[in-house]
Amino acid sequence: MFRSLLARMPINIGERIPSCKTLRVMKDGEGVVPISVDELFKGKKVVMFGVPGAFTPGCSKTHCPSFVAGADQLRAKGVDSVVCMAVNDAYVMHAWGESQKVGDKILMVGDGSAELTKSLDVVKDLTDAGLGVRCERFAAIVDDGVVKHFVLEPPNAGITKTTAEAMLSLL
Ligand code: BEZ
Repeated sequence: MFRSLLARMPINIGERIPSCKTLRVMKDGEGVVPISVDELFKGKKVVMFGVPGAFTPGCSKTHCPSFVAGADQLRAKGVDSVVCMAVNDAYVMHAWGESQKVGDKILMVGDGSAELTKSLDVVKDLTDAGLGVRCERFAAIVDDGVVKHFVLEPPNAGITKTTAEAMLSLL
């Protein structure tokens, strides 16, 4: 793929979200369980947003709240599911979701081993900041597993292009 020859470019429009064996979610009564890419995307229109870290300021004050506020409008425009992913474990994602009051509006998915992050080509290396490997801030519209839109938030320019409002404008 050309993508792999280029320095920084995420998954292409029209590509399928690759399978991933290490995604985890917290499920009521079951604790932390694996979730497959098929379970997340098959037969659904999904808006997925990725954040560099649960509980970090931009993600907590702006990015996640935009999707809590916008989830109903996204659903009204045909979105079946809103997924939030980060390179954090599912316990942390669950606790962050509770603190953000996501309820059943957003599915909080832990990509703790960064497998999906790596295969989407959205690795953000924050090792020097003491945070290790994380994912870039992004948002995507995925239809039945196929990427229709994929937006990377440019660094150090606020959070505007990957919010729920921005995704609404693409639907
Ligand atoms: C944030 O504010 O979202 C953030 C801060 C430090 C590292 C990663 C994300």
